[in-house]
Amino acid sequence: MDNLYNNKRSSLREKILSNENSNEVHDAFLNHVRKTPKNRTILDIACGIGAHLEAIRKKLPNAILEGIDLNQGMLDVAKRKSLGAKLIQTDMREFDLKRNFDLVYCLSSSIQYNLSTEDFERTITSMRRHAVDGNVIFDLAYCAEKWREGYTNITANSNDRFDVVEMYTTHSNEGVSIWNPLYLIKDKKTGKMDMHVDKHRIKLWSISEVEQILSSQGIGYDLRFGFGKNDNHSEIPIFLVKGLKSK
Ligand SMILES: C[S@@+](CC[C@H](N)C(=O)[O-])C[C@H]1O[C@@H](n2cnc3c(N)ncnc32)[C@H](O)[C@@H]1O
Repeated sequence: MDNLYNNKRSSLREKILSNENSNEVHDAFLNHVRKTPKNRTILDIACGIGAHLEAIRKKLPNAILEGIDLNQGMLDVAKRKSLGAKLIQTDMREFDLKRNFDLVYCLSSSIQYNLSTEDFERTITSMRRHAVDGNVIFDLAYCAEKWREGYTNITANSNDRFDVVEMYTTHSNEGVSIWNPLYLIKDKKTGKMDMHVDKHRIKLWSISEVEQILSSQGIGYDLRFGFGKNDNHSEIPIFLVKGLKSK
């Protein structure tokens, strides 16, 4: 997983996805966080460019926020946002911040960067170790049940300086998504065009595989679909891991 999200990708992501805070899952997640009064200390696992931390900071100005990510380029982008959050480069499979948090979450299918059961289990164990009492949340946005092979998407976005287009077609092999988005970037100041192809591998875990991993370790959880009031099965699966005490 080490070469994921190089610096170029993180700044591209910032350029193209600057409006990602408006997505529905994200908004619903924020409502969920806000409704839980205990959430004073919050840890974002695989925080990327800090999109969730940024939104939480706006809603909970006094919360103590921290984020970890493997990729320093992503963290550098997050740092420039002055979120008042501690941002640490470390691996979700094996980290020890030596403190506990009211809420620990890992969103946007980031947990699916774990390609093996062993890595998945290590990540769950590390997250649990950091949760005061059970509030560990993760989603499986690209679970096997929801996977659409051969789906093509083009997204364009602009800011003052850049026009960016992201293009991809989904493709998988033996349960692993091979995602190689192509980026076209125009620097509006210099008129220069640039292109970049990124490479990602995530495992298309099925819901039952993840349930089995949790159950085999005696870990309790609720499975829901979306963060909204109604459990709508067309939305993304979300695991609310509960009943934890750090070991
Ligand atoms: C799809 S992005 C999601 C970022 C963020 N969670 C969000 O929802 O916007 C996936 C993130 O996972 C990070 N990542 C992948 N493997 C990781 C690992 N082993 N430990 C920590 N972060 C990892 C990547 O660097 C990247 O920032």
